[in-house]
Amino acid sequence: MSDTLTIALSKGRIFKDTVPLLAHAGIVAAENPETSRKLILDTNLAHVKLIIVRASDVPTYVEYGAADVGVAGKDVLMEHGGDGVYEPLDLCIARCRLMVAGKPGAVAGNRRLRIATKYINSTRRYYADKGEQVEIVKLYGSMELAPLVGLADAIVDLVDTGNTLRANGLMPLEHIADISSRLIVNKAALKIKSALVKAFIGQMTHAVERHTAATL
Ligand code: ATP
Ligand code: PRP
Repeated sequence: MSDTLTIALSKGRIFKDTVPLLAHAGIVAAENPETSRKLILDTNLAHVKLIIVRASDVPTYVEYGAADVGVAGKDVLMEHGGDGVYEPLDLCIARCRLMVAGKPGAVAGNRRLRIATKYINSTRRYYADKGEQVEIVKLYGSMELAPLVGLADAIVDLVDTGNTLRANGLMPLEHIADISSRLIVNKAALKIKSALVKAFIGQMTHAVERHTAATL
């Protein structure tokens, strides 16, 4: 419907960090997805709904128009391939870095490396750009374990504080990209629901400016 706005979010970090921005934009969820089992949440505004999906599924829901807008990590967007959605705004939340990590010296020498990651497209692109041939092993989580048990020479994963790497005797080795969450928009919704979607992008832009100023 042209008079409703559906926003796709994932539980956890992205929801927690997006709530203050939505509040700046005058939108408050009726329930907390961490405690509710509902996947479609009402808000204080009758025409705005939130849908709760896996972080890596947000671009898919937005690309196909099941949600008009969404919040997704740049890591997820890089992996999904950016063409299917508009990405008008850096929300400056959930900041971290996509990195190669491993035991000290893990990537030295001329051997063909085996890299474990859930980011297989970004990893393939990174090594192709460097002109290095690597073997990529797809994992779905706990990447830090792979070098410890001989599954891989190194991993490509997100690093924030570095605590997870340190706790497992690993270190960051190469920087691939700075990551933060982005507001993404369905291409048709931007035309069909132009006023509503543009107003929302404008409110979120102000929200980011105010939120960033408040947390400096
Ligand atoms: P999925 O459920 O699809 O497997 P996930 O478990 O990776 O996704 P989260 O851990 O909630 O989902 O991460 C969501 C997003 O938050 C990531 O895509 C990334 O952009 C960002 N992120 C992940 N880990 C960190 C971190 N340690 N610090 C800051 N931001 C992070
Ligand atoms: C992410 C990422 C790293 C960790 C890095 O995992 O996959 O394991 O954060 O953060 P740090 O450098 O501050 O330790 P997350 O905490 O999201 O767990 P999950 O993806 O395994 O759910």
